This record gives sequence, C-alpha cells and structure tokens, in this order.
Amino acid sequence: MSERLLTVDDALSSTLEDIRAWHQNVNPGLIRLLGLVGFDRKYVKARGTRLWDEAGNEILDFYGGYGSLNVGHNHPAVVEAVNSVTDLPNMLGATLSPFAGALGKNLADLTPGDLANTFFCNSGAEAVEGALKLACAATGRTGAICSTYDAFHGKTAGALSVSGKNAYKDGFALVEDVVLVDYGDASALQSGFESRNVAAFIVEPIQGEAGVVVPPDGYLRDVRRLCDKHGVMLIFDEIQTGLGRTGAMFACEHEGVAPDIMTLAKSLSGGIMPIGCFTTTRAIWDKAFGGMHRAALHTSTFGGNTRATAAAIAALNVIVDEKLADNAREMGEYLLRRLKELEGRHKLIKEVRGRGLMIGIEFYAPSGGKVGALDKLSKEYLASLIAADMLREHKVLTAYTFNNPNVIRFAPALAVTREECDWAVDALDATCERNKGFMRTVLRGGKSLLKK
Ligand SMILES: Cc1ncc(COP(=O)(O)O)c(C=O)c1O
Repeated sequence: MSERLLTVDDALSSTLEDIRAWHQNVNPGLIRLLGLVGFDRKYVKARGTRLWDEAGNEILDFYGGYGSLNVGHNHPAVVEAVNSVTDLPNMLGATLSPFAGALGKNLADLTPGDLANTFFCNSGAEAVEGALKLACAATGRTGAICSTYDAFHGKTAGALSVSGKNAYKDGFALVEDVVLVDYGDASALQSGFESRNVAAFIVEPIQGEAGVVVPPDGYLRDVRRLCDKHGVMLIFDEIQTGLGRTGAMFACEHEGVAPDIMTLAKSLSGGIMPIGCFTTTRAIWDKAFGGMHRAALHTSTFGGNTRATAAAIAALNVIVDEKLADNAREMGEYLLRRLKELEGRHKLIKEVRGRGLMIGIEFYAPSGGKVGALDKLSKEYLASLIAADMLREHKVLTAYTFNNPNVIRFAPALAVTREECDWAVDALDATCERNKGFMRTVLRGGKSLLKK
C-alpha cells in the first residue's frame, strides 16, 4: 500500500510522466498506442470546438469524442443544468424522477413516427443490449438477430455479436444466432430474413465505425418495407448518427422512415454525463415490458439518474434552440465540397464521403510487403499516422474509425464555423502534400514508431 491514496488535486496537478506511470494500473497497452501517435497530451481546458494542452497549444477538435460532442465541449447550458441539481438525490430509484420523465417526454416529441417509451441506461452498448432484448420479448422470437457486415454496435457481448469486425469478436463467447448481411443491399436482407426466424434487424442509418459508409438512396425505405413484410423489429442505431449529426435530427429522417426501436447515447447528454437509451412505440413497449409484473424485467442501477437526465434535457434544448442540425447540414456541405477538391488533387486520398458533419476520408491501403515489419504497422495505423501529423503540425485532432483503420473521421461539434472547417481542410491538404505517396508517410511515421 502506498503512503496515501492519490487525490483529485494530485490528478489536477499531475505531470505527463505521473499520468503515464499511473496508467500502468489502467491499460498499459494504451500508453504505447497513444504515445506512438503523439496523442498522450495533458489537456487543461476544453470549450466548444477547442482544446488547450498544458504547453499552451490551442487545438481544434474534429474528433468530437467519438461523436459525443454534438453540442461541443462543456456547453455552458449543460454544465449549468448539472450544477442546478447537485443538491437533489442523484441515485434513488425509489421514486419517479421528474428529470427522467421530462427527458422521456422530450424524446417522444423529437423522435420520428410513434416512438413514445424510453428506457434509460449508461452507454451505447447497453442501449443496444436492451434494444435486442426488447425485440425478442415483443416478437416472442428468439431465432436470430440480423445485422450488417462491418457494423459497429458496441463491445459488450450482445452488442459485439451483432457487430461486423472479426478482429474484435474472435476468441469471445458471443451470441451465436446472428445473421450478417451486406450493408446497403436490400436483396441480401430479404435472403437473410428468409433463412431464419429473425426477431430484429439492427442497422446504422450511416455506418460510422465502418469508415462512414452512406447507403444507397432508398435503402432505409426498403429495409422498413422488408421488416414489415417479415414481422421483424427494425432497430435504427442512431447512437452516432442521431441528434443533428447528419444535418437532420435523426439520420433516418433523410428517407422519411421511422424504426420500431431506436438507440441513442453519445451526444444525448452533451458529452458531460454517461447516458444511453432505447426508445420504442407504446404498443411494442406494452408487449415486451408492459404492466406492473413486467416493469422490472429490464433494469439498470444508474439508468435515468438525475444528473445524466438533467444534462440530456439541456443538451436536447441546445440542439433544437441553436438549430445545430441546420448548421451541420450547411457546414457539412461546405466541408464535403472542399474535401472533394483534395480527393482530386492528392493520390493518397481514395475517397471522401459522408453526410452533414459525419465525414470520412479514406486513404489507399498500403499494399505489398516492401517495408517488412513496417508494412503490418502501416496497414493498421496509416490513418493514425496522418492524424498524428495533423495534430503535431497543424493542431487539428482527428482519429481513425474502429472498423476501418484507413479512414479518418471529421466529426466536429455541430456549431463549427466555416473558418474552422477551412483550418481542418488546410491541415489535411498540407499533411497530404508533405507526405506525397503513402509509403513516405508509412516510413516517416513508422520509423518514429519503431524508435519508441
Ligand atoms: C453506432 C454505434 N453504436 C453503438 C456504439 C457503442 O457505444 P458505447 O461506446 O457508448 O458503448 C457506438 C460507439 O462508437 C456506435 O458508433
């Protein structure tokens, strides 16, 4: 036992060396991984689209906390909402919370179709777990769940089972009754439904971690029609696409369709408190969890706690009042236009794609074995090397997508300005110019990686 336990003040006044040493007790592999790309800085302030590190650098955040910062860092209205409830019981469970109630009412107003009843939990993966259980309970089908290749729905066992990247799944005991079909392909879905007694189809309206994959126009409408035909519950996972990110409040609204169940998390509480939820129609809720005897069939200790739900009420109001979806649409179009110019100019860039402020830039995957040990490294970390360059040289923070490491994401706070979009695009332009030919990127990045 150390002489004394560390305190919050110790954490506040820590050096980077302290932090690295303490993380030996967290996830030591991450110390190396983040160090390789120069992401292990000590940040001392965050507001809106900006971060400040202890060396005084002002950094533009286009990473956006994996999509949890639609209202930006530390939005004053969200912070104020949390501060306004600090004297109230945060965890009680023994009464009806006015905050969980108000948030449920707001979500019923904002979400499309007849979605009306919401269950609150604490993360995206937990929302997905609950949504899958709800679908089985409502349909009485336990035959199979259908999902898409390359999908990302979280890393708990059930959510991982319906995700599409084997590297994350291999070696774990997962739910076996999962049918994976090609994303964006309605006829593949039809065959999937015919092969098993499917309870639910879970799908991202735009695949995020797959590398920002936008399906063909009409796909979501086809999906809705097929689910209706086969009596399959349609779950839209809007954990990343929802709450204004794609230029509409929910991405499914671009095609005018509503799901039976929707999952939300990430930006729901303004990036301040952990929260997740699934929301469904009154009829489905009643079938699955209706009545006193089934009201506690699915529960979560922290779900619906006062601070998280107060933060979420404030975040939803900010998204609506500041018309953030409109700005996401406008700035997204501008960014895509400017990035497409780079796509034509830089051989390194394979494709730029996205909708609203959910944008992916795909780089050509390194091929061949010409650089030996560096080859594997470059395959796994090429986009990270570019992100490292952008942070080091241009003070722009981005990151690769989980299921496609050749893609970096641009996902800033939705109030981002045109000048900030220019800053990020110019940074990418200069980085591509500096690294003409990805082999040079690989070699330059890889050499510094191997030195560490
Ligand atoms: C579409 C989608 N679903 C689910 C999740 C899992 O969310 P969490 O990391 O909060 O468990 C993510 C996270 O990236 C996601 O993008």
